[in-house]
Parts: sequence; structure tokens; C-alpha cells
Amino acid sequence: MKILLIHGPNLNLLGRREPGVYGHQTLPQINERLEEAAEKMSAELKIFQSNSEGKIVSFIGENADWADGIIINPAAYTHTSVAIRDAIAAVHLPTVEVHLSNVFKREEFRHFSYISPVATGIICGFGPEGYVLALEAIIREINRLAEN
Ligand code: DQA
Repeated sequence: MKILLIHGPNLNLLGRREPGVYGHQTLPQINERLEEAAEKMSAELKIFQSNSEGKIVSFIGENADWADGIIINPAAYTHTSVAIRDAIAAVHLPTVEVHLSNVFKREEFRHFSYISPVATGIICGFGPEGYVLALEAIIREINRLAEN
């Protein structure tokens, strides 16, 4: 089972970025935890972080044939990017949208997501643990689709 794990803008700054909101774990620490979890679940991850919308769009398109599913925290692009939404819709892969924080408890502009309507589901508000939940969820979804 092959999963793209995509981190959007400013998530490279985790650890020092608003720790009261996003916690103290760095992105390499989060990725390492996910790699361990993926190995236990016999899944393979391809991990990508970019601050650039176009690079995220290209990464999704270029890896669509390799992947069985996508886990993505589009970060600020969640609330602005038609291009990332269209890329996800185009590749027809099960997709879990993740947010570290509960975006619905925060400013109103974070309540709207361009990505959610093309995602299989959303996990938000559980901090880095949300990525592990997303991994479990996407593996179940890929298996469910394979059985049908
Ligand atoms: C975020 C929430 C977004 O609103 C914000 O722009 C981020 C991170 C989260 O993980 O909670 O950069 O996606």
C-alpha cells in the first residue's frame, strides 16, 4: 500500500511555529513517527513538504500512478487553493485532509476548505496524532475500495 504524505506551507516551521496552537514537535519528528506507524501497517510513504502551491499540484500529478492514497495537510492553501483541490479531484485517489489544530475553533477564514469536498474525510484537532489516525483511516478506505 503506497501513500503520499503531503505537508503544505509553513509546516516546515513546526516546533517553533506558534507552539500553543501547533505543539512542539518538529516536522522531521512527525514524519519519523509516521514512518514507524506505516511500517507496522505494511504501508510505504512518499513524504513531501512545500511552501509552493504549484509544487504541491505537480507532486500530486506526478505521483498519482505510484500512489494508492493521499494524506494531505494543505495548511493555509486549504482555505485558498482551487488548484490543489482540482489536482486531488483529477487523480481520483482516496484522500484524507489533516489539520493539527481544530480549524473550526479558530478564525472564521479557517472554517472554509476548498479541499474537503474532494477528500474522503477530514481529521482535525488531534495534533500530530491526527496523521496516525489518517494513516489508519486511509488504509481501511483503500482496502474497502479494493473489496468492492
Ligand atoms: C493547519 C490549519 C491552517 O488553517 C493553517 O493555515 C496551517 C495549519 C493545521 O494543521 O492546523 O498552516 O492546516
